[in-house]
Amino acid sequence: MAIQKIGVVGCGLMGSGIVQVCAQAGFEVKVREIDDAALAKGLGRIDKFLQGGVDKGKMTADQKAAIVGKITGTTKLGDLGDCDLVIEAAVENIAAKHEVFAALDAACGPNAIFASNTSSLSITEMAAKTKRPARFVGLHFFNPVPLMQLVEVVRAPMTDDAVLAEVDAFAKQLPKVVVAAQDTPGFVVNRLLVPFLLDAIRVLESGIATKEDIDAGMKLGCGHPMGPLVLLDFVGLDTTYYIANIMFDEFKEPRFAPPPLLKRMVLAGWHGKKSGRGFYDYSSGQPK
Ligand code: 3HC
Repeated sequence: MAIQKIGVVGCGLMGSGIVQVCAQAGFEVKVREIDDAALAKGLGRIDKFLQGGVDKGKMTADQKAAIVGKITGTTKLGDLGDCDLVIEAAVENIAAKHEVFAALDAACGPNAIFASNTSSLSITEMAAKTKRPARFVGLHFFNPVPLMQLVEVVRAPMTDDAVLAEVDAFAKQLPKVVVAAQDTPGFVVNRLLVPFLLDAIRVLESGIATKEDIDAGMKLGCGHPMGPLVLLDFVGLDTTYYIANIMFDEFKEPRFAPPPLLKRMVLAGWHGKKSGRGFYDYSSGQPK
């Protein structure tokens, strides 16, 4: 049976992007947030992005209205019970994720497929705790979801081949380019990206160059769209710190260990763009 109705758990930065691309591809989407305020914030983010598309002449106001019309918000996980695929994009905390999937297990039909957008936690661990380990995959999107072409489709040892094929076909309809990965921390992209970002912090820590020159070096010398320190602010220093710790814990390799400067910035509450301050100051809207 083809996937038709999508459920998304979480309407934060990643969840709202996932909701948007699903609705843009013509799927009916139900999104669940923890309370009305969080839901309104997430739906507002989608509206703002789509309005940006209208303003840029990439879509008409009618097309925007049709996309918005495919999205339903809720604060109850039980409302996702009739979805064919539920994508979890909630907080990166294994206990919270187990709780979400236990509630979904009770609410959804036996054929529903569960996916997690986790960037670092184990798909195998999450799947094993559900009643449907064979119908559980990783579906890792990239920020900003509406603009980044890639999605990683992650298989656990128990994942059914037919389920994987269904999810692969769904991701291609979004349309995203699929990279298939086994369940290991960071999958493919973060396995390569995270040590690079941590090294950029180490270069800054050791006084080799200024943050502006490190960023300019990688942008202009290697053609990266953003320098690594701007990208860290964009991804979130807290998120990167969290991912690095999980990868270090698994691989025990120093290259995954968060540098002291990253830890201190997180402790100071400098979480990057979202908090107004990271390696750069965003109080005026633009990095300074
Ligand atoms: N609606 C429709 N289109 C829009 C839009 C909107 N609201 N906003 C922007 N766009 C389009 C623009 O029109 C443009 O399209 P064009 O190329 O056809 O003209 C394109 O999107 C790029 O937009 P901008 O020109 O405004 O922005 P930039 O060129 O500065 O690119 C960026 C922005 C895509 C974010 C780029 O800087 C980039 O690729 N950065 C790197 C992002 C990255 O590495 N992400 C991955 C992070 S890691 C991750 O997510 C994994 C996690 O687990 C940590």
